[in-house]
Amino acid sequence: MDMAVSDALVRTLLAAAGAYTLYLIGLVIYRLYFHPLAKFPGPKYAAISHWHEVYYDVILQGQFTFKVQEMHKQYGPIVRIVPDELHIQDSDFYETLYTKAGRVDKYEWMAGRFGDHNSAFATASDELHRIRRGALNPLFSRQRILDLQDVIQVKIDILVDRVREFQAEGKVMPINRAFSALTEEVILEYCFNLSYDALREPEFEKSLHDPIMAANQFSNVSLQFPWVPKILFNLPQSITVKMQPEYALFFRMQGDFRKQIDDMKSGKMKDVLEKSSHRTVFQELIEGNLPPSEKNSLRLMGEASVVVAAGVVTTGWALATAAFHIINNRPIFQKLRAELEAAIQNPDVKPSWTELEKLPYLAGCVREAVRMSYGVTVREPRLLSKPLEYKGWIIPPRTPVSMTNVDVCDDEVIFPNPRTFRPERWIGNPKAPNGQSLERYYIGFGKGTRSCLGINLAQAELHMTLAALFRNFDFELYHTDISDLELAHDFFAPSPRRDSKGVRVKVKPA
Ligand code: HEM
Repeated sequence: MDMAVSDALVRTLLAAAGAYTLYLIGLVIYRLYFHPLAKFPGPKYAAISHWHEVYYDVILQGQFTFKVQEMHKQYGPIVRIVPDELHIQDSDFYETLYTKAGRVDKYEWMAGRFGDHNSAFATASDELHRIRRGALNPLFSRQRILDLQDVIQVKIDILVDRVREFQAEGKVMPINRAFSALTEEVILEYCFNLSYDALREPEFEKSLHDPIMAANQFSNVSLQFPWVPKILFNLPQSITVKMQPEYALFFRMQGDFRKQIDDMKSGKMKDVLEKSSHRTVFQELIEGNLPPSEKNSLRLMGEASVVVAAGVVTTGWALATAAFHIINNRPIFQKLRAELEAAIQNPDVKPSWTELEKLPYLAGCVREAVRMSYGVTVREPRLLSKPLEYKGWIIPPRTPVSMTNVDVCDDEVIFPNPRTFRPERWIGNPKAPNGQSLERYYIGFGKGTRSCLGINLAQAELHMTLAALFRNFDFELYHTDISDLELAHDFFAPSPRRDSKGVRVKVKPA
């Protein structure tokens, strides 16, 4: 290269590096002294950049949530945890932040952590969210789920048959995987009349459990480096699957959703759907009155992927949490068994969800399962359009403010010994120490406009499955201890230690 040209190139590069350094210095000064959140408590490094979050969540794998808890110990209940976001740790503030009143936006950056904005879950704007969620809500109403009970029961019956098989053969049952297989079968059936027979897999190995957990974990990376999913998901699927083998089942599922959505639109599914015992969620959405742009096949496929993923692991993990504690604690097992035997005298008669809900000890077990499994473990930022006041601090409108469900579920003032499974704490309309109903702090499903769509479905599955198993079987844990259950990584959803083999049981002889 000509000397003059190479000198010019070096000078240009040096000038660019100098300008970038100046920009960074300016940015640091702005964030520390002139940013609207500059006066809020928190460490200086957190005010400057997101790199500490990258370190804790990407390098150390899902540890930032614990770091945020440490920050609260040092700086109090409101902390600036990254340059543009405040985090609050105060159970009494939960209903104020996660409100149904007025406009509540999600934080665009975080809502897109799965690399897609097509679902209600991933929609930042309150306006568009209301349209998407408005179409889904009636399909998951209490009445709809009451009507769906037979469908749920058919799947539970398959699970019960499988438990009998493990019992007869004296084999070790990976029960958390069995529960995920159950919740997968239910949600796929309801959404698409579809089944991959996950409940009939010998060890429930081929199910959506692993792909969903892999996607959850990967979302910590895509949150920090949004270009990574853009590259990964634009490669031919065969290459992505070579890099991430768990994704194979997820891609198959998305392909099936896409095909069925297209087939329904062109009337090709008519015969199949007419024979079905129930209408499906996506049949209803396609025939319903969503605006045409919202019925775009890619958009509906994105919605379907999230509804299914949200329905599988959350409920599966809550069931595993309940099963672990009930099996691990004989008096709890005995009380639950006695209540179920008294209510269900003939084991061949299957009680309805509404009958089961009336059993106080079972209801307490369900509440403890949801509380102790947290639903999602990630912090949930919201942007309110008005200034928000917290303990004398005035938070500017549209500031991302987050809280974490784990902080409320494990609040020891409200739930003394929070990591002890105690169904009794929910019996007899109990109060928190401040005189408020304890129900107010039952927030595993979130609150406000963005709370869980599947709460009724999940509650029905939890009551009906726990009743079917603990009315009829007795179990013992197999090489499983509390470390197979307790939160060790925040991968959006809770994850125990990485080398855990899950919750495994042996079914005691009849
Ligand atoms: C024990 C079971 C479950 C728990 C604890 C749970 C918990 C939650 C929580 C905390 C959220 C709020 C997340 C956020 O703020 O971004 C949520 C949202 C959601 N859940 Fe659930 N969930 C459960 C089961 C289900 C089931 C069975 C479905 C199936 C339909 C489902 C579908 C959804 C959807 C679609 C959203 C996003 C709602 C929106 O953004 O409008 N969940 N869930």
